[in-house]
Amino acid sequence: MKKIVISTGGGDAPGLNAVIYSVVKASLAREWEVYGSRSGYKGLLDPDELVRLTSENVADITPTGGTILGSTNKGNPFAMPIENLAGEIQIRDVSERVMNNFTRMGFACHIAVGGDGSLEIAHQFATEKGMPVIGVPKTIDNDLEATQMTFGFDTAVSTATEAIDKLHSTAKSHDRVMVVEVMGRDSGWIALSSGISGGADVVLIPEIPFNIESICRKISDNELHGKHYAIIVVAEGACAHESGKIHKTDGQCEVGRQELLLGGIGEWVASKVRTCAAKDTRSMVLGHLQRGGSPTTFDRLLALRFGAAAVRMAENNQFDQMVALVNGEMETVPLAEAIKQRKKVPLHSDKIMTARDIGICLGDDY
Ligand code: F6P
Repeated sequence: MKKIVISTGGGDAPGLNAVIYSVVKASLAREWEVYGSRSGYKGLLDPDELVRLTSENVADITPTGGTILGSTNKGNPFAMPIENLAGEIQIRDVSERVMNNFTRMGFACHIAVGGDGSLEIAHQFATEKGMPVIGVPKTIDNDLEATQMTFGFDTAVSTATEAIDKLHSTAKSHDRVMVVEVMGRDSGWIALSSGISGGADVVLIPEIPFNIESICRKISDNELHGKHYAIIVVAEGACAHESGKIHKTDGQCEVGRQELLLGGIGEWVASKVRTCAAKDTRSMVLGHLQRGGSPTTFDRLLALRFGAAAVRMAENNQFDQMVALVNGEMETVPLAEAIKQRKKVPLHSDKIMTARDIGICLGDDY
């Protein structure tokens, strides 16, 4: 009998619970024992944070959002922020303790469900500590290179599209420009997919630096054709030549994360457009709504397939690998490959051509 442990790390994404369900069911079918580590590696640091997963406690979790195991962005055992007795935060390496507990508990494999950060940690455990690790790709940003798609992305795009759909009527009623900022970090997948589907006039993505004049030309063009409102979808990582990437400021995020957390470009665009297009302009940030809610059927199915494939990999001792969607099928790719670089929207891809063909301004020449 094998004993395996599963963890969910980094930002949550719709579909995490479906992966957990699938891993548990596929493992129990093989008569293995499954444990969940709460909040990333917490369960491997403190056995009280390990939870035995059974058919009963995963029943009905597939359609639910979030993760029953909890997640964290601050749980890297190789550089863990720990508060000392004086209340100061110190960074400590507790990876050896994690590995000792993993071995002592008799685990044969760790299934790490995460984005680039969590998968990097998993790879480090595999190479430096010899932990038998299997990765499952999760992120609403869809920016993992080695897989065609991550779960969570489809749900985030559906949420953003629904929001854009709703903005049309209010923008039209007031002859306004509405700017909506969506997530995606340094990739424009969410913005482009939801912007095309939601009938945006302008879509700004990190892969294409934009200029305000181009956006304003599109708005005047709308006016000439009798359309007195406009919808602009801007990815949080998009930037104009003169704006640079805009990050959240102190107070909007935890200490030490200002460098990492993007946010604010929507309002920047709105303030410029208000002046140059001389239109009433409002901005909104869709934010964490994109991470919440029940996964779409596509995400559920992908997550369930990923979970079962990860268990088959454990059965075949395929470690330091990640399960990936390649040409519609489940494949394995080395974790080292998966974390090498972020997946960007290719500039000559069909989605970019579609946007241009149907008259969407991408912020460059228009
Ligand atoms: O990577 C997922 C993501 O939602 C990004 O799109 C976003 O930039 C970031 O996480 C937000 O992180 P947090 O939940 O820490 O605010």
